[in-house]
Amino acid sequence: MEPGYRSVSRRDSRSLVGYKHACHAMLHAPLPSSLSPFQMQMRFDGKIGFPGGFVDIRDHSLEDGLNRELAEELGCDQKLLCVTESDYRSSHATDAMPQKVVAHFYIKQLSLADLHRIEVAAVHAKDHGREVMGTIRVPLYTLRDGFGGLPAFLTNTFIGNAKEQLIYALRTLKLLSEEAIQTAISAGQE
Ligand code: APR
Ligand code: MG
Ligand code: MG
Repeated sequence: MEPGYRSVSRRDSRSLVGYKHACHAMLHAPLPSSLSPFQMQMRFDGKIGFPGGFVDIRDHSLEDGLNRELAEELGCDQKLLCVTESDYRSSHATDAMPQKVVAHFYIKQLSLADLHRIEVAAVHAKDHGREVMGTIRVPLYTLRDGFGGLPAFLTNTFIGNAKEQLIYALRTLKLLSEEAIQTAISAGQE
C-alpha cells in the first residue's frame, strides 16, 4: 500500500477537514466461472486501479459521485450499472502528498452477461484513452509454475490502496481459499 492509509468509518470520514473523497468500485460476476469475472483497469499513469474517482461539489452523495465517475470511465448507463450505499465496503484515509484523500471502496456483483456488456461498452466511454487505458480481468488462478496468473498479476504497480482493496475483495467474497491468497501474495514478493 502507498504509505499511510488508515481505516476510517464512513461517518467519521465526512467530518475530516481538508480531504478529497474518492470512490472506486470492484465489479464482479459470481463464480464458478473459468473466466475470472473480476474487473480492474489500466490507468493513464500505468498503474492498476478500480474504476471510479474523485467526488466533487456536483455530486449530492458519495454514490452520486461514484456513479458519475463510472459513467465517464465505463460509458454504461445507470440501468446497467448503479452502485448504491448497500454496495459500500470500506474507507481509508491518507495524509500522503500531494493531497489528503479518503478512498471509499464498493463491491458490486453483476451477472456475467452484464459484466461483459460493461467491458464492451467501455471502449466508447468518454475517458477511454484519456484516464482509462482499458478494462482488465484479474486472473483468479495460479499456473502450475506457481507464478503465472494471480501471483504475477500482484507484482503490478497499483494506485493508492487498490492492491489491498483487491486482496480484501478476494477474501470477503471467498473467491479463493486463504491459502491460495497467501501463496499468491508471497510468490509475488519473491
Ligand atoms: N483505485 C484508484 N484510485 C484510488 C484507489 C483505487 N482503488 N484508491 C485510492 N485511490 C486514490 C488515488 O490516489 C487517486 O489518485 O484516489 C485518487 C483519485 O482517483 P482517480 O480514479 O485517479 O480520480 P479521477 O477523478 O478518476 O481522476 C482525476 O486525476 O491525475 C488525474 O488527470 C487525472 O483527470 C484525472 C484526475
Ligand atoms: Mg475519472
Ligand atoms: Mg478514476
